[in-house]
Amino acid sequence: MCGIVAIIGGRPVAPLIVDALKRLEYRGYDSAGVATIENGRLARRRAEGKLVNLEARLEAEPLSGTIGIGHTRWATHGVPNETNAHPHFAGDVAIVHNGIIENFAELRSELAAKGHVFSTQTDTEVVAHLVSEGISGGSSPQEAAFAALKRLEGAFAIALMFRGDEDLLIGARNGPPLAIGHGEGETYLGSDAIALSPFTNQVTYLEDGDWAVVRRDSVKICDMNGSPVERPRQTSVATSFLVDKGNHRHFMEKEIHEQPEVISHTLANYLDFANGAIRQPELPFDFATLDRLTISACGTAYLSGLVSKYWFERFARLPVDIDIASEFRYREMPLSKNSAAVFISQSGETADSLASLRYCRGEGVPIASIVNVQGSTIARESDIVFPTLAGPEIGVASTKAFTCQLSVLASLALRAARERGTIDNETERKLIRALSEAPRLASQVLRLEERFRELARELSHYKHVLYLGRDTSYPLALEGALKLKEISYIHAEGYAAGELKHGPIALIDEEMPVIVIAPHDRIFDKSVSNMQEVAARGGKIILITDATGAEKANVSTLETIVMPDVPEFVAPIVYALPVQMLAYHTAVFMGTDVDQPRNLAKSVTVE
Ligand code: M6R
Repeated sequence: MCGIVAIIGGRPVAPLIVDALKRLEYRGYDSAGVATIENGRLARRRAEGKLVNLEARLEAEPLSGTIGIGHTRWATHGVPNETNAHPHFAGDVAIVHNGIIENFAELRSELAAKGHVFSTQTDTEVVAHLVSEGISGGSSPQEAAFAALKRLEGAFAIALMFRGDEDLLIGARNGPPLAIGHGEGETYLGSDAIALSPFTNQVTYLEDGDWAVVRRDSVKICDMNGSPVERPRQTSVATSFLVDKGNHRHFMEKEIHEQPEVISHTLANYLDFANGAIRQPELPFDFATLDRLTISACGTAYLSGLVSKYWFERFARLPVDIDIASEFRYREMPLSKNSAAVFISQSGETADSLASLRYCRGEGVPIASIVNVQGSTIARESDIVFPTLAGPEIGVASTKAFTCQLSVLASLALRAARERGTIDNETERKLIRALSEAPRLASQVLRLEERFRELARELSHYKHVLYLGRDTSYPLALEGALKLKEISYIHAEGYAAGELKHGPIALIDEEMPVIVIAPHDRIFDKSVSNMQEVAARGGKIILITDATGAEKANVSTLETIVMPDVPEFVAPIVYALPVQMLAYHTAVFMGTDVDQPRNLAKSVTVE
């Protein structure tokens, strides 16, 4: 988390740094700051809260200087106030940092014993002091930085600036990404290529353990042993346009509404609808002979993987192990040589997903990823990438990335089924036809928005909500609860409907509405039984189903929302929209910050 930027150029850099930070605000928005070297001195402006507060501060008190560093923060160590906001200074050293320094307490005590005085609660300030200590001992800034970096444990991306040398920045990466941008007489460091896109499309990504000595006209990259290394310069495709909300109140609303189009683009990238055929790149493994598939991801991306487990196992008879990446990475799971791993991530930077990917790499397993941000670390470290064509997703709550992930996974499950010979041609064509209908069905669901808005008004009066679903609607129940918690701050739980009687049924009363996601499918009757159990205990049921389901449910509900008839295979894609709209409108009624909910960040680059 946290976004970092550094610029060394020939014009005042503070406004450029703020421009770049706007593109990084998705990484955190607790506080922000910029530092430059102004008239030979380190100078900074910082502000608690969103970047607009820093902009206002800079407008009142501008910063001059042609070298500078900037930061937008997601707090790890120390409350998100101005004191703890980056950049931090120690002696002649200024620093911005993304990540966590795990041994900061030990380093801090060591430095305190030498007389260093700390003014923040952050782990970052310790690094500035460590480098400053080296400089005081007679080392050059480069020598001091290198010596300090070797002592750091944890995951970090760092940019350092030094009073006394206005032609020097040092960047270092161990975990979170850091890109170098190459301009004309200007050089940049940034957490991603999007941040640098207004200035240059020529970027070099540092690899783990790399550190770089950056000057206006030169860049030297070294590995963790201090030996110079070559890293390729690439042309980034990141766009310099800041995406806007169009006519929508929030990015989340816009992104919900974009789904018919982006689902259609994504599906068309993997399926040839005109000929009813699968059209996909070659794989680094063979579905036909694979023993198992291991899927790992976090949050909403994990839930898309959970839906796909049902698809891969049902249609392709391919067993799937799926894990939350933060668990998988330390579980030391033995992986069969005849397996493949799939990682799903909107940002392509999620620390736990990346660590899981590297674990699989170490086990010699071929790696496929489903990623929305092109050029992201997960994409670059995979053997094959299946992009989701959702376009930039700005709202912290993932919506269109989720349905695009489902679209890719459904296409892959079909391919696996065909290559394993577990479906016949007729079934394959039928399933492809079903997928081709997903965008149209998603549009129809959007027309029901007013119903969901009304229902959201009701939901906003409750403190707790339960979501239930069976089969592929179970991950959707989890997703509904996650969305609601995340943006409305209402406590919500998602459960497999059949699990209700094993505990959560004790919660049922008039104060806890139960949202049941139940298209009329093979096991609809089982969901009806679970609804009866809820109704018998005075629970208020909100049923989301289709016309047949509404007719057959035979249970009294607070609300029944009738969805279009949907082929069972694509139901998870289409039924994702109601849970998104419900969460969105509830949050609007609650008056929360929908696109940037408290305590969260779009890209989670710490574990
Ligand atoms: O970028 P990723 O897809 O790897 O992110 C994973 C989760 O952090 C993310 O899906 C998160 O759960 C969303 N905010 C949920 O809406």
